[in-house]
Amino acid sequence: MDLTSIHNDYDGESIENLPSDPFLAVEKWMEQALKTEQEPTAFSLATHDLKNNISVRVVLAKEVTIKGVTFFTHGLSHKGREIQETKNAAGVFFWPASKRQLRFEGAVTAIAASDSDAYFHSRPHLSQVAALVSRQSSVVASYQELNRRFEDESHRLKDQVVSRPQDWGGFTISFDKIEFWQGKPNRLHQRLLYTKLEDGSYRREWLEP
Ligand SMILES: Cc1cc2nc3c(=O)[nH]c(=O)nc-3n(C[C@H](O)[C@H](O)[C@H](O)COP(=O)(O)O)c2cc1C
Repeated sequence: MDLTSIHNDYDGESIENLPSDPFLAVEKWMEQALKTEQEPTAFSLATHDLKNNISVRVVLAKEVTIKGVTFFTHGLSHKGREIQETKNAAGVFFWPASKRQLRFEGAVTAIAASDSDAYFHSRPHLSQVAALVSRQSSVVASYQELNRRFEDESHRLKDQVVSRPQDWGGFTISFDKIEFWQGKPNRLHQRLLYTKLEDGSYRREWLEP
């Protein structure tokens, strides 16, 4: 399929006045994305293993703070094993309505077990059951087999509190690097990179598009 005739022309708001504090800038963009985007909290998460095999998938950000972006997953999944092995990851939000991407890279840490518990128990009961029965990223004989397991467990755990699976929880990707990308006409896009320095402050540089 030839896609060369598809031309997206970008003409977004200028970002020359983004705050010098990158977290305030992230907050500003996230607040705007929550108003304009269809899936504002979804981001592509790239991880790698110790042999430098790379993989990427979409997850949902559940918290954005000065510490970084937090998402939830199963620690024994493909991504879960990789982030625990290499302790780093990269992510990108793509916000097409505002013609923006927000890229970030950094160290990954597991959040406190009590915080994972609190989030797990805030989810709908059947989502909790699903997290319990899904051995995320493992091969399963058929979809029916997974469904059967789900039905059995939902029946068994009806009206009961579901315990958070030990390996399921939240992980935070810190902001070692954050890039604000704003689409502009004629492919002269704006790219503003914040890089964390040893003293905790950030260097701010424009990159060529
Ligand atoms: C919009 C969207 C949101 C998703 N959110 C999550 C999430 O927050 N956590 C998660 O583990 N998987 C999420 N998934 C599923 C992942 O993309 C992926 O299929 C799954 O985590 C298994 O990935 P892995 O085998 O690389 O570990 C989401 C998928 C989509 C399309």
